[in-house]
Amino acid sequence: MKKVICKSYEEMSALAAFTIALQIQSKPDSVIGFATGSTPVGTYKRLIEMEVDFSKVTAFNLDEYYPIKRDNPQSYCYFMKEKLFSHINIPVGNINIPDGECDEPVKECADYDAKLERLGGTDLQILGIGKNGHIAFVEPAENLPLATGLVDLTDDTIKANSRFFDKPGDVPRQAISMGLRGIFNSRHILLLISGQGKAEVAKKLFAGELSTNVPASLLNLHPNVTVITDGSTD
Ligand code: PGA
Repeated sequence: MKKVICKSYEEMSALAAFTIALQIQSKPDSVIGFATGSTPVGTYKRLIEMEVDFSKVTAFNLDEYYPIKRDNPQSYCYFMKEKLFSHINIPVGNINIPDGECDEPVKECADYDAKLERLGGTDLQILGIGKNGHIAFVEPAENLPLATGLVDLTDDTIKANSRFFDKPGDVPRQAISMGLRGIFNSRHILLLISGQGKAEVAKKLFAGELSTNVPASLLNLHPNVTVITDGSTD
């Protein structure tokens, strides 16, 4: 696991955007795994400013609340459009986000994994980390899911995400989330960590131990992970 400590959120975002741009320059038809949350917003802003050519890129998002309408401003579909996809030249047909409106989530999850597998996984997977150590919505638990599935959000995650909703009761209790297989089936994982609130979980990540209670700690097993921090957790 490579660790790069930046001096600020802006520097972290610029470095992450540069890494994504380099990936696309070296392979214009890259499959990029995108993440939501506040951490990658600056990265997406820089990517838009850099006018990176996304015309051949395929996007695969990590997760989506369930159930949620696509046009709900809290949906990850809406988030990705607003923060990135509406501002770049990626073909709409190349965008993959789990469907929070689907009637058959089990089928949706299986189809999502099958499509990602057909594409050969992601070339680059962008990740954030939850204060509780989750990656995507793979929440701390004794057993962790390999496949994409419908997951129950933990109270910690509901609390953390309630800041985006009018009231905590509005936060969906479930989500469709990529499992560990989809995340690990990436040739390069780029984990972004920002804010002092993540200091404790960052320490656990770098402690050199694996625990399913800190799902991100399993990233220590992946051969090509780059962690970029904004310096506030170190
Ligand atoms: P954040 O979320 O970037 O909003 O902190 C990260 C996550 O929960 O994975």
